[in-house]
Amino acid sequence: MEKIRHLLATDLDGTFVGDDAGLKQLLAYYDTLDEPVALAYITGRHQASVIDLINEASLPMPDILITDVGTVIYHGESLFEDELWTEKMTENWQPDNILKIAEGISGLTVQNLPHQRRVSFYASSTESAEALKISLLQKEIPHTFIFSSNRDVDILPEGGGKGEALKFLIENYVEKEAGILVAGDSGNDLAMLEAGYPAVIVANARPELADIEANELLYRASSSYAAGILEAWQHFYGGR
Ligand code: GLC
Ligand code: MG
Repeated sequence: MEKIRHLLATDLDGTFVGDDAGLKQLLAYYDTLDEPVALAYITGRHQASVIDLINEASLPMPDILITDVGTVIYHGESLFEDELWTEKMTENWQPDNILKIAEGISGLTVQNLPHQRRVSFYASSTESAEALKISLLQKEIPHTFIFSSNRDVDILPEGGGKGEALKFLIENYVEKEAGILVAGDSGNDLAMLEAGYPAVIVANARPELADIEANELLYRASSSYAAGILEAWQHFYGGR
C-alpha cells in the first residue's frame, strides 16, 4: 500500500455519522481536492457492526479500519489484519482474569462481543465503573481503562486504545509531513484527539469532552457531526 499523504482519521457514531447532508458536503468537498484524502475509521464497534453501519448509512469503505476501541487494525480492500499490532495487543492480555474480577462487582453487564480483543461492559453507575478500575489496579492486571458516554466501560490491552492505534497507523501507513485531521465526539476519542495531530471536537460532542481546552492543534467546531469535520479541515488546510 502506498503511503498516505492526506488523512482523515475519524470516529464513526456521533462524529462522521449523524448528519447525512453534512457528510455529503464533506465528501463532495474532498472530491474537489487535487489529491485524495484517505479515510481511517477509528471506532468502538467490532468489524461486523462497522460493516452494518457502512451499509445502513452508505458510507465509503475506508482505507484503514480500526475497530474495538483501537485494538484491531485492518487495511486494504479485503481488510487484512495488521499482525504487528495484533501481536502487541495480545502479548499481555488477560481477558478471562478481567471477566472474573468483574463478576464480583455489581452494576456491570458484559457486552456481547464476537471476540475478546477487548472486554467491554455497560455500567449502571460511575461507581461500578470506578470499582472495576480500582480492582484491576489492585490485582495488577495490565490494561487500559476507558469510560465513555457515562455508560460504556472498555478494558483494553495495555498500550491499546484509539490514541495508540492512531500513532501506530501514522508511523506505519502515513508519509511524514502528511496533512492529518483526527475527529471525535466522546470519551473513547480523547486519547486520539490529544495524540499530537490536528484534531477536531465536533459541536455535538458529549459532556465528557466539554472541559478540554482548545489549543493550536485541537479545534472546537461550531458545527456538528461531519459538517464540523469539514469546518475543521478548512480551518487547518483551507489554504492548500
Ligand atoms: C461502541 C461499541 C461499544 C463500546 C463503545 C465505547 O458503542 O459498540 O462496544 O463500548 O463504543 O467505546
Ligand atoms: Mg462517537
